[in-house]
Amino acid sequence: MIRSEFLAKQPPLKTPRTQLVPIGPRFGPQVRRAASDPEIRRLTGAHRTPDQDQLRQRLETVAGRDDQAEWAIVRGQDASYLGRVALDDLDRANESMTYKISLRGTDVAGQGYGTEAGEAVINFGLGILGLHRIQLAVYAFNERAIKSFSKIGFETEGVLRHALLWDGRWYDQLIMSVLTPGALDQVAEPKQTGVQQDG
Ligand SMILES: CC(C)(COP(=O)(O)OP(=O)(O)OC[C@H]1O[C@@H](n2cnc3c(N)ncnc32)[C@H](O)[C@@H]1OP(=O)(O)O)[C@@H](O)C(=O)NCCC(=O)NCCS
Repeated sequence: MIRSEFLAKQPPLKTPRTQLVPIGPRFGPQVRRAASDPEIRRLTGAHRTPDQDQLRQRLETVAGRDDQAEWAIVRGQDASYLGRVALDDLDRANESMTYKISLRGTDVAGQGYGTEAGEAVINFGLGILGLHRIQLAVYAFNERAIKSFSKIGFETEGVLRHALLWDGRWYDQLIMSVLTPGALDQVAEPKQTGVQQDG
């Protein structure tokens, strides 16, 4: 059972070097700047910069939603905005959500901040929300992201071939997921066929 009250009233999370703060309109300028960064756009396959009105509206309405959660990653040391991390696309019936993360730029990548934030969000999703499965999609060229996701428990389960056309070249996309601990230990229930066995 999903405890979606923890989505509607999303708690802040803490990691050794960062605070994860529920995102909102006050982060608008930083989110817009990051979304326009050419390298971030390549890594996330964003062909267009987001529509400004849509982005503002999303940041204004994200609080209180019981089908997604999104945090700003804020560095403890100097309160600077490092990026954002989210769980969205809640599938209540199948107890799953999708994980998304983007640091503000490559100036703060490679220092473990994204991995640290991701670990806190995955623990929250599986441990507090009660999700069974969290999935993500990542381009095969994004080695840093794949390593980071593997470190926090994601495993590759498939490849979408030629999912991205960027600067005239095709790139594959990996689907990765993490399941709640012990998920694969469950023993399948014997099927009830309704057929009586003789003797
Ligand atoms: C992907 C992302 C969340 C990873 O978080 P991070 O904190 O930067 O990752 P880390 O610093 O923990 O690095 C993870 C691993 O990648 C390695 N790494 C760092 N830079 C690398 C690079 N340029 N190429 C290959 N590996 C790299 C690190 O050494 C580390 O491996 P190790 O633990 O074996 O040493 C973050 O970099 C990010 O948001 N990037 C921009 C947007 C993006 O790619 N989003 C994901 C879209 S699906």
